[in-house]
Amino acid sequence: MTFTSVEPKDILFFRELLGDSYVLTPSDDCERYTHDHTEDLRYTPHVVLLPSGPEEISAVLKYCNEQKICVTPRGAGTGLSGGALAIQGGVILSTERLNKILKIDTTNFQAVVECGVINEELQQAVIKQGLFYPPDPASKGSCFLGGNVAHSSGGPRALKYGTTRDYILNLEMVLPTGEIIWTGANTLKYSTGYNLTHLMIGSEGTLGIVTKIVLKLIAYPTKNMLLLASFNSPVKACEAVAAIFMAGCAPSVCEFIEPDGFRLSSAFTGLAFDIKEGVEAYLLIEADGNDEDAIMLECEKISEVLNQHECSDTLIAYSAEQKEYFWKLRRTIGESTKFNNVYKEEDTVVPRGELPALFQGVKEIAARYNVRTVCYGHAGDGNLHVNILKDDHSDEFWQNDIKEAIREIFRLCKSLGGTISGEHGIGLVQKEFMNIVLDEVNLELMRKIKKAFDPNGILNPGKIF
Ligand code: LAC
Ligand code: ZN
Repeated sequence: MTFTSVEPKDILFFRELLGDSYVLTPSDDCERYTHDHTEDLRYTPHVVLLPSGPEEISAVLKYCNEQKICVTPRGAGTGLSGGALAIQGGVILSTERLNKILKIDTTNFQAVVECGVINEELQQAVIKQGLFYPPDPASKGSCFLGGNVAHSSGGPRALKYGTTRDYILNLEMVLPTGEIIWTGANTLKYSTGYNLTHLMIGSEGTLGIVTKIVLKLIAYPTKNMLLLASFNSPVKACEAVAAIFMAGCAPSVCEFIEPDGFRLSSAFTGLAFDIKEGVEAYLLIEADGNDEDAIMLECEKISEVLNQHECSDTLIAYSAEQKEYFWKLRRTIGESTKFNNVYKEEDTVVPRGELPALFQGVKEIAARYNVRTVCYGHAGDGNLHVNILKDDHSDEFWQNDIKEAIREIFRLCKSLGGTISGEHGIGLVQKEFMNIVLDEVNLELMRKIKKAFDPNGILNPGKIF
């Protein structure tokens, strides 16, 4: 699809609408809008717009729709699939000024927020009221809730509490044609026609721009216990994951980490981490609730299962500082990999019991292509992040051959009943692999939905399809 380029008359229109300081052109400092957290990709937009709210977003979209100017919505730019990249130039529409928590409703256990509120800011605000917003992506300290909606982001606690999708009740959104709508109702149940709220969740900014979010909250679990278990066999560690649940346990977190993951994050953060000889995998496990004895009992039961799976050592984090130490090492693995190497991050996901087969298959494929991989992620959800490192491979290999390796990994996911993304989305970098998991009938239905929302295709073009 070709779009009209942004002309001086368009810039003039945007300046009159938003005010001069909220319209940035490449002569201003726009560098941070040229990339997100995806690989080393960079695209320069013609103009960056910083609207103040839904009315201004509506006016921008209406204008761009009429003029056939493409618009790429952007939250905090922490995405890992290239969804916020302006691959065709045009407008970057940043939601960073929509950053207010509008309401915390302690009667109905709801919060109403603007889309540019940072995930962790909401978490902290609701904890003060004894309430809990569980979705906790690794980037929780900087990512926006609007971006979380766009990808149905998860994080470690998704295991017990579900992903962003499970905490969205209702959305205010601006359509590409400029209308402002609410998608549903602020209710815990909804059986009132097609569920547009859920259609928007995970739509990666291709159907509309979410401006306000009504979130579901739950009671805050006040206590938790964190274990780090070491294994000499990564496959045994993977096998332990399903076994923990089969034993009747329900941990809030169950993360798998290869030693290289901790090696990278230790070097990046400066936090010392001693990797014992022979250790080839870790499980980071948390149990939570309000009853300390019950949590202790749960952890004992989990430890039994771990021992049955040849766990060589278990560390318990007692203090808040110790817990934060493990979490910091875990959460920075992605960032540390990027700092250390050029890499591609695959967000593989399979039914939990297939995790050992997924891990073994990934390693076998990586060996055949002679690439190093660092695997880590949300094992309890069957969601394994596979970081493929470029190391000394040629650019030619990195552009072409590596795609075949990724294709093989994704075919493996499909054969195990899984799919190509659990929480990072498709965006730009995974779209060429969509036909591995979705047939033409599915894809055509999605294209028709896109057309119904965005007849001129101006919103986030070139993403997902
Ligand atoms: C994580 C991000 C990359 O789990 O999803 O660290
Ligand atoms: Zn993750």
